[in-house]
Amino acid sequence: MFDSIERAPADATMGVAEAFNQDPNPHKINLSMGVFKDEGGNTSILPSVKEVESRIFREETTKTYSGIEGFPAFSKAVLPFIFGENHEALANNRAVTAHTPGGSGALRVVGDFIYKNSPATTMWVSDPTWAAHIQIFKAAGLTVNQYPYFDVQTNGLAFEKMMSLLQIIPAGDAVLLHGCCHNPTGVDPTLEQWKQIADVIHERGLLPVIDFAYQGFSRGIREDATGPLELIRPGKEAFICGSFSKNFALYNERTGSVTAVAANERAAEVVMSQVKYTIRSIYSSPPAHGGIIVSTILNDPILRKQWEGELKQMRDRINDMRQLLAETLMAKGIPGDSSFITQQKGMFSFSGLTPEQVQRLRDEHAIYIIANGRINVAAITPSNVIPICDAIAKVI
Ligand SMILES: Cc1ncc(COP(=O)(O)O)c(C=O)c1O
Repeated sequence: MFDSIERAPADATMGVAEAFNQDPNPHKINLSMGVFKDEGGNTSILPSVKEVESRIFREETTKTYSGIEGFPAFSKAVLPFIFGENHEALANNRAVTAHTPGGSGALRVVGDFIYKNSPATTMWVSDPTWAAHIQIFKAAGLTVNQYPYFDVQTNGLAFEKMMSLLQIIPAGDAVLLHGCCHNPTGVDPTLEQWKQIADVIHERGLLPVIDFAYQGFSRGIREDATGPLELIRPGKEAFICGSFSKNFALYNERTGSVTAVAANERAAEVVMSQVKYTIRSIYSSPPAHGGIIVSTILNDPILRKQWEGELKQMRDRINDMRQLLAETLMAKGIPGDSSFITQQKGMFSFSGLTPEQVQRLRDEHAIYIIANGRINVAAITPSNVIPICDAIAKVI
């Protein structure tokens, strides 16, 4: 069998990271991976996380299995984190959550769940989207199609085109929406646009799947949830895939959540039985460490306050770097208006660089960006912004 198989294509992001690691140039810069870096270029462990880890080290007495859905403290903490304390879906016990290995694990659980229970469903994702979306849903067996999202003329949302397409998607299909900090464009709908998107999705009987991988990275934990929560309407169904990779910097601990919102409590219970069945068929139960960290911090008022401050610092740094990047590009005389960079949200900016320019940045300047031109703004620092902008000026 192994003799006859072909090499798999390199991953769009990980492949660039591998090439970066092999580059001996001491001045190389990696703007490809979606990880936050501090001013010194480090992806550090948050102090609140370190504090909980030292408690776990001292106090943990067993490594016995958690439930298929993780520990009860996890869903107790995560549901109000996503919905806020007083949301109707929580009051009516119609939202259920399981701890998954990262947001990616949650997406795969959703894909497998949908394929098992309604195999003819097409999953609609934005054009463009995070490349793994397409890979994950196809691997689950689903047909994947795309709806228009990004307008290259305005570097903003192609809202009219998106709405026109949503209006003709067959009832029963699923639509994946990025909760905030759209990857790769950094372009999110306004609250008014979210309302209109929610109207059409529910009028047409579509299933919203919200990929909420960056909650807290745009404007704040609650602020970021207001748009996507427009989709959670009484009696209506949805999936929400959460990730604690970015907002808790728990990347390699693989900590995420899959939340199903059913029409009522009874349906939620049945859906949860199927979510657990799906999980049991893939990875059995989640890795505990990250789940304990997240639930401990979210359930402890003092640690939570500390962590919220740390999250704010990350968010503020990204926004500062957006400003600095836009200003430096303009100062270098880059043609066009770079101010859209400050309007975009989250870690990423869609730079508009062509694949050829991206290749030249790598070959001639040891600056690594993924081929679609997505820049990780969170990897820019006051000391690397000038060489980055000089290099961009040279290649365009
Ligand atoms: C849009 C989007 N969704 C989901 C994820 C999943 O992240 P993880 O599996 O690391 O939690 C990412 C990570 O980069 C992402 O960008």
